[in-house]
Amino acid sequence: MQTAIDLNSIDLSNIKVKDLVIADFHIAAALEKFGIDYCCKGNQVLKDVLHAKNISKSVLMDEINTLNRSSSNAESQSYENLELNDLAQHIIDTHHSYVKKAIPQISEHLAKVVAKHSGKHAYLVTINDAFVSVSNELISHMMKEERILFPLIKYLSECKKFEEKPKATGYGSIKNPIRQMEADHIAAGDYMGKIRKISSNYSLPDDACTTFKLTFSELQEFEKDLFKHVHLENNILFPKSIVLEEELNKKY
Ligand SMILES: [Fe+2]
Repeated sequence: MQTAIDLNSIDLSNIKVKDLVIADFHIAAALEKFGIDYCCKGNQVLKDVLHAKNISKSVLMDEINTLNRSSSNAESQSYENLELNDLAQHIIDTHHSYVKKAIPQISEHLAKVVAKHSGKHAYLVTINDAFVSVSNELISHMMKEERILFPLIKYLSECKKFEEKPKATGYGSIKNPIRQMEADHIAAGDYMGKIRKISSNYSLPDDACTTFKLTFSELQEFEKDLFKHVHLENNILFPKSIVLEEELNKKY
């Protein structure tokens, strides 16, 4: 199958993980399979990540080539073309609402699994602690985005529409709240990375019951959603908002 990016033809010594996904969102699924964080740690150089994880370039390429890319490419393109305010709203409607629904559900299942299995599998307590931390982190983070950053982005979109210079806000440049949000993303990604590591990439023990299996599936889904959510913000919404602010300040 022909791919939009031919990894053979690019210089892997310099390319960052996030740049692969920006160019072709299809690659995200392959990176997820190897637990490669393309959003919170998207600035890592691909070559270094492959080396650290002991994954060869050819193994990664095989994975990319086995995936059907047509729909995800179209999806990626559509995000790139969305108005910033619409992209922020999409993130709220899709990812924030998923996180708000998933947290109580996964917490309840994890509590059951800890009660039943932590005697034999003590690492489940650490996983539970990390999930409580990432949940608290994300709830506070989404509130900051919905109350502060996303309204600022909406304001910039309106300034563009009405051809106005943005008025000063109490936050200074939009780069300031964005920097904070990116730090939050790193923290959330680290907690999910810890859970993945402690669970040995979500390996199930022989005595895992149905709830145990379900909870690990839910945690993997949660991580996958987080990666995509953070990718849309760190790699599309935030850089475009910074560019828009700079353009408006220069122009008016
Ligand atoms: Fe975010």
